[in-house]
Amino acid sequence: MVDYFIEFYKRLDRQGPGDDKYTGMAFRLLEPLPHNPRILDVGCGSGRQTLALARMSFCEITAVDVYDCFLDKLKENANCETLKGSITTLNASMCRLPFDNHQFDLIWSEGSIYIMGFEKGLKEWKRLLKPGGYLVVSEISWLQREVPAEIRDFWNTAYPEIGTVSEKLRVIEKCGYRPLAHLTLPEYGWQQNYYHLMKAEKHEFLKLYGHLEEARKVLETEMELEMSLYNKYKAYYSYVFYVMIG
Ligand SMILES: C[S@@+](CC[C@H](N)C(=O)[O-])C[C@H]1O[C@@H](n2cnc3c(N)ncnc32)[C@H](O)[C@@H]1O
Repeated sequence: MVDYFIEFYKRLDRQGPGDDKYTGMAFRLLEPLPHNPRILDVGCGSGRQTLALARMSFCEITAVDVYDCFLDKLKENANCETLKGSITTLNASMCRLPFDNHQFDLIWSEGSIYIMGFEKGLKEWKRLLKPGGYLVVSEISWLQREVPAEIRDFWNTAYPEIGTVSEKLRVIEKCGYRPLAHLTLPEYGWQQNYYHLMKAEKHEFLKLYGHLEEARKVLETEMELEMSLYNKYKAYYSYVFYVMIG
């Protein structure tokens, strides 16, 4: 990603749609974790969900991302909330996670697994789970089987691995996990928690970078298109939290 877009996303409270209540609901679906569990948050960004997990679980969490500025923001927020001792940040790629096999009781990843692809991520991260460990990922999914061509084409280009919830559940089983539950992120997780923040920051950002044609193109054209498509077709897709056991 170009540096000035990292700068844009760093200003946001989260880097994708989501909601603390849904992070909590997905977490509470897990059966009691063992004493002192090891938790890994992959593609944590500035860690909105890492902080929510740390507050709820009182557990230690290793949070991984490839951008130091997000990890620094997470550390800063953790310090402010006296969660400092419970969160360790690590700059590493989700494609080559530097851990031995069977290290984690829980792997969490909100809105990030698409970067390596749902199936590949599920396959590669399985080795990191202890026997019976949990994986929770949120992944963009079709909520209906029949989808209008305009939005199907948009997402098939942006993320060809998008599929229906039943297709995702089949992939989960194919990769050797047992699906426990799934939860669909509601509209406010997109609108209030994400798109409104983007709109609020856009103005400030364009004051700094509006002279750059590419910055304007992404913010004024591509992001606006994504938001208007969401408004038009929100009944057809959302992020879905998939809770599974390894
Ligand atoms: C859509 S954001 C989601 C961030 C956060 N989980 C959230 O929901 O707010 C995707 C995150 O993946 C991170 N990322 C991109 N490529 C990565 C990689 N190869 N390994 C680890 N993280 C990566 C980005 O820096 C970004 O923070």
